[in-house]
Amino acid sequence: MPDRDNVQIAPANGKLGVLIPGIGAVSTTFMAGVEAVKRGTAAPIGSLTQLATIRLGKRTDARTPMIKDFVPLAGLNQLVFGGWDIYEDSAYEAAANAKVLESSLLEQVKQPLSAIKPMKAVFDPEYIRRINGPNVKDKGTKMDKAEMLMEDIANFRQQNNCSRLVMIWCASTEVFHKPASVHQTLKDFECGLMKNDPEIAPSQIYAYAALKSGVPFANGAPNLTTDTPALLELARERGVPICGKDFKTGQTFMKTLIAPGLKMRMLGLNGWFSTNILGNRDGEVLDDPGSFKSKEESKLGALDHILQPKLYPELYKDFYHAVRINYYPPRGDAKEGWDNIDIFGWLGYPMQIKIDFLCRDSILAAPLVLDLTLFLDLARRCGMRGIQEWLSFYFKAPMTAPGLYPEHDIFIQLMKLKNTLRWMRGEDLITHLGLEYYD
Ligand SMILES: NC(=O)c1ccc[n+]([C@@H]2O[C@H](COP(=O)([O-])OP(=O)(O)OC[C@H]3O[C@@H](n4cnc5c(N)ncnc54)[C@H](O)[C@@H]3O)[C@@H](O)[C@H]2O)c1
Repeated sequence: MPDRDNVQIAPANGKLGVLIPGIGAVSTTFMAGVEAVKRGTAAPIGSLTQLATIRLGKRTDARTPMIKDFVPLAGLNQLVFGGWDIYEDSAYEAAANAKVLESSLLEQVKQPLSAIKPMKAVFDPEYIRRINGPNVKDKGTKMDKAEMLMEDIANFRQQNNCSRLVMIWCASTEVFHKPASVHQTLKDFECGLMKNDPEIAPSQIYAYAALKSGVPFANGAPNLTTDTPALLELARERGVPICGKDFKTGQTFMKTLIAPGLKMRMLGLNGWFSTNILGNRDGEVLDDPGSFKSKEESKLGALDHILQPKLYPELYKDFYHAVRINYYPPRGDAKEGWDNIDIFGWLGYPMQIKIDFLCRDSILAAPLVLDLTLFLDLARRCGMRGIQEWLSFYFKAPMTAPGLYPEHDIFIQLMKLKNTLRWMRGEDLITHLGLEYYD
């Protein structure tokens, strides 16, 4: 890692290609949104890179530039989109099927979205069980498929005249798998690709192809993907940044807002029961127990890490925590998430908190895809490689260095993100100590 005074940031010149496995609800809401913002007909609400400011120096200095003016990010006009899906629908048709956006908005961006035709996907029905489609690469070993993806990447780069690329997984959630021996080293992994090892998931073939091509990779779903020693080794060897896993949008976003508050005030927790209804294709895939298990693992981790029951047994030992997702087609993308939280206060007196979040899953996820695209590209231009812990802010199950516990507290995550930006530009980090104002 370069030291603070020596971070060189290459300029964001030229086109930035955004390559997306999964042309579904989230990715089309993201692409349609960017096109609408470019036309000035909609606003990029929910995006830090487009709307947030960053404080620099002392509180009395009155220096609060926009993040996008403070660090050199690619502009929305520089983005070009491409991707893969098992269905042949263009991004326009996929967006229309997903029914997230109103047709009046979709019609305005029909032309650029219709031009985005998914490339043939690498797919394995053992990893995603509830759906199947015709637009797949069905010949050769897993290594052959990785090479076909690398060819797709190279062709896309050339045809669109891109200076740089990023890849962001917005495809369905794969079945839960733990790292296996094939994931231990890059050599084992490459042997496994050639031998069609069943423990190598499609998402890992995409990630391998991206990293080999020098393309940063973000994982928006909870599947293992790059969270393995082999792919981490490849990312470091190629000098490429990676991050994941699982966009932090609806219920877990709420959880990581509230849990730190309870702990700050030393309020206890007896139980937290979370349940959801969801009717889009994501909900359909998550109806499979294998895919749900990936999601459940990702959703359950946050509370333990935030509340630290080992440090505070009196408050958090053995609290009950459950997460349920029910596929309920009538709701489409308009998810409803309920939380019942049983807490206790002074002298052990019980209280309850109820949350009913009527959210829109893809509306919450789309600005995260934009921010991750722009920040990963920035990280690459700063020479940062491997896991980007400063982007934990965006994930339910943040990747961390081996042996390090993940930071789930969203307030600490945001401080880490902003301090990383300050560090990139050689500005003082903000500790919030503040004694200097009282000298
Ligand atoms: N929306 C949110 O708030 C949110 C939050 C966290 C995570 N996620 C995750 O983001 C992902 C996308 O969500 P969505 O609502 O857009 O789902 P979606 O079902 O609408 O889209 C996923 C697309 O991926 C395609 N796909 C499946 N396997 C593929 C493969 N191997 N290669 C290429 N394409 C493949 C499917 O055909 C589908 O079109 C899901 O994994 C979801 O769990 C979403």
